[in-house]
Amino acid sequence: MILFIDTADLEEIKRWLAAGVGDGVTTNPTLLKKAGFTEPVPAWKQIIGLIQKYSGGSLPLSVEVFRDDPEGMVEQATEFVSALGYAGTTVKIPIQALDGSDRLRVIKVLSGGGIAVNCTACMHWFQAFAAAKAGAKFVSLLYCRSNDAGLDGLDMISRTRRLIDLHGLKAQIIVGSIREAEQVFRVYDAGAHIITVPPKFFPQLLHQDKSVETQKQFLTDAGVVKA
Ligand code: E4P
Repeated sequence: MILFIDTADLEEIKRWLAAGVGDGVTTNPTLLKKAGFTEPVPAWKQIIGLIQKYSGGSLPLSVEVFRDDPEGMVEQATEFVSALGYAGTTVKIPIQALDGSDRLRVIKVLSGGGIAVNCTACMHWFQAFAAAKAGAKFVSLLYCRSNDAGLDGLDMISRTRRLIDLHGLKAQIIVGSIREAEQVFRVYDAGAHIITVPPKFFPQLLHQDKSVETQKQFLTDAGVVKA
């Protein structure tokens, strides 16, 4: 199970990278705003600094374009990649623009030019499958948003996975829009390659009452804690 950290909060990123749990970081304009950033590039540079310090490698960092026209998306993606100069940079391209038109061609152009693309805001398996065919390295299915849209989020994930495997596509499915800790396990079982997790859920995922009780027994028997 590959776990990305779905936040731009530097303290949280530091904490979970240092713990060895995070295999990458995903951001979007909403997460940057929530973390108090007004300028994206300096924010991403700080995240890259943390990745390099705590993982020692070049884990994927998703940075999202905030243009809506195809030329603008390509231009901004190229700008971000060169401003960051970081091998793990992955550019998030939304599957659709405001007028409803798809952005598959943008994905194809960027991927063909050697830029790693994470196609985001996919709700349906066909969107994710099409993005994978266009060359996206990652396709992001937003689980709870998919359910909000009246779709069966788990079915969207499993169908996408089946098609990726059937056609031997290279894309990996990132499942985002996780709103409850145990959804991490459900989407993994449905076929997610990667789950991007809001970090507030990691402590819940790691907690078992019985583990704490067991530690209490050990420390009591060691004479460190009074019974
Ligand atoms: C997508 O980029 C993210 O996973 C995002 O945080 C969506 O989560 P939400 O649907 O809970 O807002």
